[in-house]
Amino acid sequence: MTPADAPLLRDLPATHGASARLGILGGGQLARMTGLAALSLGCDVRYFERTAVCPAAWLTPQLVVGDWADHAALAAFAAEVDVITIENEFIDAASLLWLEERGHRVFPTAASLALIQDKLIQKQTLVSAGLPVAGFRRVDTIADVHAAARELGWPLVLKTRRDGYDGKGNFTLAGPDRVAEGWSKLGGRGLFVEAFWPIARELAVIVTSGRDGTLVSYPVVETVQKNHICHSVEAPAAIPAALAARATKLARSAIAGVGGIGSFGVELFLSESGEIAINELAPRVHNSGHYTLEACACSQFENHVRAVLGWPLGSPRMTAPAAVMLNLLGDSAAPGQPLGLSQALRIPDARVHLYGKALSGPGRKMGHVTAVGETAALARATAACAARAIHFGPIS
Ligand SMILES: Nc1ncnc2c1ncn2[C@@H]1O[C@H](COP(=O)(O)OP(=O)(O)O)[C@@H](O)[C@H]1O
Ligand SMILES: [Mg+2]
Repeated sequence: MTPADAPLLRDLPATHGASARLGILGGGQLARMTGLAALSLGCDVRYFERTAVCPAAWLTPQLVVGDWADHAALAAFAAEVDVITIENEFIDAASLLWLEERGHRVFPTAASLALIQDKLIQKQTLVSAGLPVAGFRRVDTIADVHAAARELGWPLVLKTRRDGYDGKGNFTLAGPDRVAEGWSKLGGRGLFVEAFWPIARELAVIVTSGRDGTLVSYPVVETVQKNHICHSVEAPAAIPAALAARATKLARSAIAGVGGIGSFGVELFLSESGEIAINELAPRVHNSGHYTLEACACSQFENHVRAVLGWPLGSPRMTAPAAVMLNLLGDSAAPGQPLGLSQALRIPDARVHLYGKALSGPGRKMGHVTAVGETAALARATAACAARAIHFGPIS
């Protein structure tokens, strides 16, 4: 056989020695990092994304370009894999339900996704489970916002029920003055308001739940947002053990409450007086868990793969005393090629992850850096050194 006659990978039979065939809906950085973990476990990984140019595309010739709402395309994709999972909450739960009804195995399930992807339903679900959240009200008109303010008080956060990320679906209302502006900025429909929470610190917990109901949770971490975008993550959070235990218990209850299977992110608010509220759930691996790649026995990505494939879960315990993750954000519209990489790679104990995005943009997540260390201060300094070296701006 000459090289020209050799079959393309995409033409090989489905079972060419793979441990399992995993289909991921989505092709962003979360799909890419999940795919890398799945590849290490011998999986044949395929992706279904709306565009051919995406972070996961570099991993495989098996990227299918299509719309998540196109059932015929989804069915063709599903026929080639054993299990389907998702990397984001923007895929409609109805599409997952359609696949489930045709006998495909989808994790997290359509039912779990439906309870999470609409933030209003998510809050109602958490309240029904007896879990603490900031006060909230559904708002269908501007008058509803003012009525909610009479009950909840100012400030309020106006939020889109669906498809928000990195703060893009939020508008903070200090008082009645800018309600109309926020209303129109967020599109004037599918909104709710939330009482502004007196945040002292933001915490997060990754919970992975297996298909057999086994549940593991990673250490509580502290996240710092700037302009509503995650800037840094410190693991473990420097909080008293009793508080960490309470946050962990809430996070595990929340994921059990939505019947989650796979890795999930749980974002929490902590007040000065030690009160905790659940901010939101993510039905997928989460930015606050990227540090687990270097700092935990089994990463959130690998555990997600194990969970959805019905395999035993790995240990979430930390293998280093402290870890700090810094996101590498774009600051302007520019080519996605990183500058300063070799300088960053000179920093011992820092690990650089780049997502291979074609274009950078203001606040766009282009990569991240993780450092582990004997203390949080050391890890923080190491991560900062490496992160400072990398830019995605125009070449000047
Ligand atoms: N009710 C609130 N009170 C105070 N700050 C909030 C509130 N809701 C959100 N925020 C701030 O905005 C950030 C992003 O909000 P979030 O609802 O998590 O949206 P996203 O889906 O964009 O992550 C939070 O991490 C927090 O810093
Ligand atoms: Mg959030």
